[in-house]
Amino acid sequence: MAEHTIIRFEQVTKQYDDDPAVLDNVSFEIERGKFYTLLGPSGCGKTTILRLIAGFMEPSEGKIYFNGNVINNVPANERQVNTVFQDYALFPHLNVFENVAFGLRIKKMKNAAITEKVKEALRFVNLDGYETREIREMSGGQRQRVAIARAIVNEPEVILLDEPLSALDLKLRTEMQYELRELQRSLGITFIFVTHDQEEALAMSDEIFVLNKGKIQQSGTPTDIYDEPINRFVADFIGESNIIPGKMIRDFLVEFDGKQFECVDQGFNPNESIEIVIRPEDLEITGREQGKLQVRVDSQLFRGVHYEICCYDAEGNEWLVHSTKKATVGDEIGLYFDPEAIHVMRFGETEEEFDKRLEAYDEGSHGQ
Ligand SMILES: Nc1ncnc2c1ncn2[C@@H]1O[C@H](COP(=O)(O)OP(=O)(O)OP(=O)(O)O)[C@@H](O)[C@H]1O
Ligand SMILES: [Mg+2]
Repeated sequence: MAEHTIIRFEQVTKQYDDDPAVLDNVSFEIERGKFYTLLGPSGCGKTTILRLIAGFMEPSEGKIYFNGNVINNVPANERQVNTVFQDYALFPHLNVFENVAFGLRIKKMKNAAITEKVKEALRFVNLDGYETREIREMSGGQRQRVAIARAIVNEPEVILLDEPLSALDLKLRTEMQYELRELQRSLGITFIFVTHDQEEALAMSDEIFVLNKGKIQQSGTPTDIYDEPINRFVADFIGESNIIPGKMIRDFLVEFDGKQFECVDQGFNPNESIEIVIRPEDLEITGREQGKLQVRVDSQLFRGVHYEICCYDAEGNEWLVHSTKKATVGDEIGLYFDPEAIHVMRFGETEEEFDKRLEAYDEGSHGQ
């Protein structure tokens, strides 16, 4: 295990009774001091991962390491981890100061030290002066900050945040995204943040784990995940995409829409059926004959920064285009794209399967 690894899941499975596993043989590593996001639809296992890290439950199989030691049986209160819950779970009968001080009082810290630490934590989240306020007199965003202050005051090595922004309106949410990210940077603590909002994940994270049905589909930086989605699920979940069936003729040559196109992908079987992804912003509108694809404009919406143009090709595939140029509904136009804009995927393949395939490919006759 690398020195900077703080948490490691080794083939962790969580299963209730005879139901299908809610986490299915999941392995990953979390590095110290980074901002991680678990992203995925409702029920995919995000909270389950946080609960396993926090020690609120034990895995059915596999090992969880913290700083190199197996912690499967270490009780929650002995872990260097604090959680910020979705509903904040603040104590309504205690004021702001006492909410934040709670964990320190349990540790029997001296009063003077508690006062100093609580004030510092409140300063960090921009709530100095609010010490004696009651929780019910605080706004949603302020409560959220109290919950974060309550977590950081314990100086944990890791802070787990379970959809902490989902109760806030869009504007406040965007502000808090920025603040949380700044806070994480200045504290240098490892954050593991849960959301089902892909834009939030892309904006905030050093590293994203995309989950579906108890499996990690893909992990990587926001740009990795956005630019190189590994399968239809990830491509679809992370922003709007054109996903079109096709065939991999050979390395660097793909066929879709009845034509062959140069691409940058390799490692597939000759003539293997695949799906390709092209992001709407990677398509450029041209005259009919200048384009690599010919399509008819079906509808168009102005989205402020760009036009969202919906087109159909002769095979009936829908093509979504984001363009600063306007099109005319009903027109036959061309679409141009670079070979790099085409991403080739195998349907349903997870990152682990993908890596195995590439490894086998490199070791085989195709290797350098
Ligand atoms: N105590 C339990 N007994 C049985 N199944 C459970 C239990 N707790 C959770 N589950 C199931 O485990 C799966 C994963 O739940 P989890 O709470 O991790 O999802 P999530 O990704 O956090 O979803 P959400 O975005 O809705 O919060 C769900 O299908 C859920 O129904
Ligand atoms: Mg959850």
